[in-house]
Amino acid sequence: MAWPHLIDAIQLSGRVALVTGAGAGLGQAIARELAALGAQVAVLDVDAQAGARTAQALPQAMALGCNVAEAEHVQHAVAQVLQRWGQLDVVVNCAGVASAPGMPFTQCSPADWQRTLNINLMGAVHVCGAARDALLASPAGRVVNVSSITGVISAPYMPAYSVSKAALISLTKVLARELAPHGVTANAVCPGFIWTPMWDALGQTMAAREGHNDGRAVFDQRIQTHVPMQRPQTEGDVAHCVAFLCGQAARHITGQVIGVDGGVTI
Ligand SMILES: NC(=O)c1ccc[n+]([C@@H]2O[C@H](COP(=O)([O-])OP(=O)(O)OC[C@H]3O[C@@H](n4cnc5c(N)ncnc54)[C@H](O)[C@@H]3O)[C@@H](O)[C@H]2O)c1
Repeated sequence: MAWPHLIDAIQLSGRVALVTGAGAGLGQAIARELAALGAQVAVLDVDAQAGARTAQALPQAMALGCNVAEAEHVQHAVAQVLQRWGQLDVVVNCAGVASAPGMPFTQCSPADWQRTLNINLMGAVHVCGAARDALLASPAGRVVNVSSITGVISAPYMPAYSVSKAALISLTKVLARELAPHGVTANAVCPGFIWTPMWDALGQTMAAREGHNDGRAVFDQRIQTHVPMQRPQTEGDVAHCVAFLCGQAARHITGQVIGVDGGVTI
């Protein structure tokens, strides 16, 4: 039996992808990787200027300033993609925020919980909801949710974040079951430790709690303590995994939770 070789089966020419949180960090890297494989990419970010900068650097892209926590704004953004390109095949939910550190968990206010869940979980619900009909109409619909190792193992220093990322994994499995008969896959990718603007800010908060101001040292210490491969992951490591899941090569991989974490969750 003949099948296309991997180099052909990962190409995304003719596909339209929407990447949330693509103004910086992992989302930006994912948008670049999907574009490099030939996709037209809608770059969505609440920071409209950051999103526009990402889009400008890509061959076939549009920028959408949008807060994923706002269902109506998301519907409008998805409608703009469909108006421009007439299809939407791939959705990557990467927008996310670190929650306020809280230990014991009672330190997190109801507002902290609400904000974190609204963006990290409900953002994906809104995007997948708005894109559902288009994904069903696609010959190769794909959803990739960027969760976290903290969704697999608990992170007591960031309770709301950890819970939101576990819930995102659960959402992924629910979507995978529902959409499978239509040929649409849904998978979760769980990054480990990557030095992005998110970790830059988080490291500084943690360093302040430890009585110093070297956020990078906190990050490096975490790598030494928790990562069996003893090195941080890069944006590219995560983007490669996400891009693979978006292609024909991954058409029978669905409902999976894939760590790109140097072995943290072994
Ligand atoms: N960096 C890591 O080590 C790490 C590890 C595990 C998981 N993750 C996850 O990966 C994703 C990306 O993380 P990152 O490190 O690149 O973060 P980042 O802060 O560097 O970038 C996140 C991007 O999302 C955007 N964003 C934030 N809230 C938004 C909203 N409400 N609507 C639309 N856009 C919004 C930001 O403006 C920013 O451009 C997040 O979901 C994060 O939880 C990151």
